[in-house]
Amino acid sequence: MNKNIIIKNATVVTPLGKTPKGGDSMGDLQVIENATVIVTDGIISFVGSSVDACTPADYTYTVIDAASRVVLPGFVDSHTHLIFGGFRPDEFGWRLNGETYMEIMQRGGGIQSTVNATRSATIGELQEKGQWFIDKMSEMGVTTVEAKSGYGLDTASELKMLDVINNLAKVPNQKLNIVATFLGAHAVPTEYKGRTADYVDLLIREMIPAVKGKAEFFDIFTEKNVFEIEDSRKLLNAAKEAGFKLKLHADEIVTLGGAELAAETGAVSADHLLHVSDVGIKRMAQEGVVATLLPLTAFSLREPYAPARKFIEAGAAVALATDLNPGSCFSGSIPLTIALACIYMHMSVEETITALTLNGAAALGKANEIGTIEPGKKGDLIMLEFPNYRMLPYYVGMNCVNTTIHQGNIVYSRKTHNNPF
Ligand code: NIG
Ligand code: FE
Repeated sequence: MNKNIIIKNATVVTPLGKTPKGGDSMGDLQVIENATVIVTDGIISFVGSSVDACTPADYTYTVIDAASRVVLPGFVDSHTHLIFGGFRPDEFGWRLNGETYMEIMQRGGGIQSTVNATRSATIGELQEKGQWFIDKMSEMGVTTVEAKSGYGLDTASELKMLDVINNLAKVPNQKLNIVATFLGAHAVPTEYKGRTADYVDLLIREMIPAVKGKAEFFDIFTEKNVFEIEDSRKLLNAAKEAGFKLKLHADEIVTLGGAELAAETGAVSADHLLHVSDVGIKRMAQEGVVATLLPLTAFSLREPYAPARKFIEAGAAVALATDLNPGSCFSGSIPLTIALACIYMHMSVEETITALTLNGAAALGKANEIGTIEPGKKGDLIMLEFPNYRMLPYYVGMNCVNTTIHQGNIVYSRKTHNNPF
């Protein structure tokens, strides 16, 4: 684990730059054949034609021969709920039988049932389960993940969740970067049922100050019968004042104006957006709010997909993420995310790659550090099984990742030495 690696004979495929790509530029990728990538001390020090590559003599490097296979920036999964107690397979069955996500939530199931299980879980249990999901993500090429709290919904339990997230981030040789988000405004917990105003007050008075320094982002489920626009505005402004960057679960179930509120409050991203209005799309594009689309959730809830093309045509930057969570979307599948984005959301392969790398990084305010293969960025890379990046959506739902490299260290490598491609 010396953070120094050389990949030779690679087909490097990457977006470029340190800012999100919106509109047509989402489709611009740089392709370098016969390329070498060098990571020194965890940071990319060289990308270019193999003939130009030279390595500093006083470092020792792990050397990989890519044999023409594609090397991409590591994927950024910028929206997950990867820490939670219990599972909800019964709820999945009820939905298959016709009950809706909100009906289940309103009768005390849904998020609240995971809250009950999370409150009674220990830090150790939650951490072990979180690591299990992290290991799976790493196999699919994820090198940065966002992780939300939001299944505690009281001060102590939210702090417990954030401690788990921060502990996981500090595990020695952890396989990926973790960005913590406080989602105390995920639902009104049962003990506050019918007293939303009191819970909003608790969030502002007690919880936001208590979690300061333990999370970079503040997120909220802005939704009819959860936190509606006025309460959301109040909470987002309070969080901003306290120094948090902002995200919203916006216009997921009904058109409520969450996208417009994201633009108004200067949010870094608004996520879901299945039912976004045309005005909301325009406002997000104007204000540079990243549109984080989560096709696995639409698929799992049997809902229409978010209008990716409308966002791109409006010039907005689109990111893609999994939304891994125990309820609306129990899947962290990057391969299926890619397939759904291309097949049902009509994104090109190139746009999909940008959405999962540079724009995902931008959705976490980290486009200057990760998301492209350029000198100065972190050495987060993946090597595919194939020499052609267009295999990604075509090999539907299948993992095309052969090797994952996090800050110059190999953290996953598939032991297939008989690859005939
Ligand atoms: O992104 N909609 C709100 N939050 C999650 C689901 C959480 C859950 O059902 O446990 C989402 O869909
Ligand atoms: Fe979510």
